[in-house]
Amino acid sequence: MDLDAEVREIQQKHKIIGRFNELKKILIAYHSRKNILLEGEIGTSKTTLARAFSAYKDKNFIRVDGSEDVLSHVLTGYFDPPHVLEKGYVEEAFIYGPLSTSMKSGEVLFINELNRLPESTQNVLLSALDEGFLDIPKLFQIHSEKGFIVITTLNPRSHIGTSSLGEALKDRFVWLSLDYQSEEEETEIIIQKLDDFLKSTEVDQDLDLNIVDKIGIISAKITRITRKHPNLRRGASIRAGIDIATLMLTNYLNNPQQIEQDAFWYDAGEMAFSTKIELEESSDTTLKNVIHDCIRSVLKDFQ
Ligand SMILES: Nc1ncnc2c1ncn2[C@@H]1O[C@H](COP(=O)(O)OP(=O)(O)OP(=O)(O)O)[C@@H](O)[C@H]1O
Ligand SMILES: [Mg+2]
Repeated sequence: MDLDAEVREIQQKHKIIGRFNELKKILIAYHSRKNILLEGEIGTSKTTLARAFSAYKDKNFIRVDGSEDVLSHVLTGYFDPPHVLEKGYVEEAFIYGPLSTSMKSGEVLFINELNRLPESTQNVLLSALDEGFLDIPKLFQIHSEKGFIVITTLNPRSHIGTSSLGEALKDRFVWLSLDYQSEEEETEIIIQKLDDFLKSTEVDQDLDLNIVDKIGIISAKITRITRKHPNLRRGASIRAGIDIATLMLTNYLNNPQQIEQDAFWYDAGEMAFSTKIELEESSDTTLKNVIHDCIRSVLKDFQ
């Protein structure tokens, strides 16, 4: 087992920037047959890493988004009444759910925001995670196939207003925390997205590649500054950086002069950031002012 080589292969095949140690920890947890709880702010690559791991291991990625609608039978599966009437409680009448499917075939069950699941649904997971079986009353017990793993996420801020995660359930995971990546890596992620965007559009003009880099560098800086802004309760995720950068690249393709005009950055910034940051309740300014403030402080170094 050469885990370092495996990590490098995952990074390369799935275009993951950085996250070497985190991917390695995921592999170590998997080989130790442990289920993983990924905890990190919005946009810190929780889904990206789980997907890349699943694809690398040739496993189906079975996704459940935590919400109060995910009742226990949604997760485990249920008997279809017309089938039961016709054939009785047989396997054919049983509609497999994400948990029973992934256990039976040893796949990855990805539960986004585990804490949003109702408590009764969280309880169903206990025996599955611990003892590797799930009781389907009137039918059989499903035993988890080798390779079955639950990867779940928790967003630190989403504790407010959602049912909390039971201690017993938390006890069954190993924990991996994801911080924001470095400025270099975030810039690289944005530039990679711009390259993908360019490939998907049929731009036939000769594009000055320095422009793509410049847009990426400025966008990453603006994004990061929002996280330290005193008037913001929640700063921006990498998605805001990707959005402002893509809007600016489109402006540039439309008219190369526009990249030099601050007004275009302010407009793109409002579009990209307004839905992704939150004002401190006590602050007496507006989102628009804060966004302009952040953009101005970055652009002044690029005149
Ligand atoms: N290390 C990385 N390498 C390449 N792309 C990345 C990386 N981190 C994040 N991204 C990109 O940033 C975006 C957000 O990442 P992702 O969806 O994985 O975050 P998340 O933690 O699951 O967010 P959320 O909490 O909103 O679910 C995606 O478009 C993803 O492609
Ligand atoms: Mg996600």
